[in-house]
Amino acid sequence: MTTQLLSTTGYDLERAAELIKKGGLVAIPTETVYGLGANGLDPEAVGKIFLAKGRPQDNPLILHIHDASQLYDFCREVPQTAVLLAERFWPGPLTMILPVRDTVPKTTTAGLDTVGVRCPDNAATREIIRLAGVPIAAPSANTSGKPSTTTAAHVLHDMEGKIDAVVDGGPCRVGVESTIVDLTGPVPRLLRPGGIGPEELERLLGALVIDRAVTGEIRADAVVRAPGMKYKHYAPEAEVLIVEGSSEAAARYIRSRFAPGDAVLCFTEELDLFAGLNPTAYGCALDPGSLSAGLFAALRALDNGTVQRIFARCPTGGGVSAAVRNRLQKSAAYRTIDAEQVKSEK
Ligand code: TXA
Ligand code: MG
Repeated sequence: MTTQLLSTTGYDLERAAELIKKGGLVAIPTETVYGLGANGLDPEAVGKIFLAKGRPQDNPLILHIHDASQLYDFCREVPQTAVLLAERFWPGPLTMILPVRDTVPKTTTAGLDTVGVRCPDNAATREIIRLAGVPIAAPSANTSGKPSTTTAAHVLHDMEGKIDAVVDGGPCRVGVESTIVDLTGPVPRLLRPGGIGPEELERLLGALVIDRAVTGEIRADAVVRAPGMKYKHYAPEAEVLIVEGSSEAAARYIRSRFAPGDAVLCFTEELDLFAGLNPTAYGCALDPGSLSAGLFAALRALDNGTVQRIFARCPTGGGVSAAVRNRLQKSAAYRTIDAEQVKSEK
């Protein structure tokens, strides 16, 4: 099939909505990453998402709605915490896990009795959802296992010929996926750090449990609450190694090991320290929002067939830095070196 490139102007939004209504696949811009959308209430359409991405069937999808009032159409219970979170953070990069109503097909939820719901902060996409008259089920619009897509060009790279259309809304502002909070247990639980920092959630909720999936590696056969967390993620072809410690210690460590086929992914402030190694900066350490916005594009740029190993610098701290760290750790399969602890070799 030919993949149409649509704009965010009125007529194109109607075309996008028509395609969704007809059971097609349309990639949609959001503030986090591009989503690979289909009618979330149509099991056949949703099935096509899994095929296009090569996504395992047991990995549930997020339902995107255009207004918080739609929560009641798809969720059996909407606790007060969900209302509070929606008022504070929607439209925005927050996904809530809630008990699902039987209006939502099992293909969308991968058979779980819960559903992830999010109202994205992108007016064009909310308008498509409204015009389509159905919630849009959408995972990130990348080939399964690869870095998420933050431009329409990334989407075409992975999905051209496999989907009906992509709506070009420009580069995504946040650049990493939404924060996921599970509200089905006694205490809210963070399943994935994202555009909204854990501290902000905790401040509003009073208490927040951080799931194991966020902090450490989960074995492939483990029972996990966010089924997607156990799969390989954000992985470029090259092996990623996170190098922690001061800029100077990291530069010493990397310089002493740098070989042909290696690449450096660093902060803009560090470009001079890595001069001669052809470093790629993904954003400023002093501006964590620039790091989240630039991470996936940089990982994709380094996926050029010549890079075998990436030495990556990773931010410390909370807020969106926690999400950047989480994505980098996953792309590195948790391989991390503390350069301060290593004697430099000659
Ligand atoms: O920012 C985002 O959330 C983007 C944009 C497109 O909205 N979407 C996104 O979707 O990142 P995806 O499918 O790539 O990641 C969704 C994650 C997966 O790890 C999935 O397992 C988890 O959410 N998830 C979905 N429904 C769930 C549920 N009912 N319970 C637990 N985890 C769920
Ligand atoms: Mg994804």
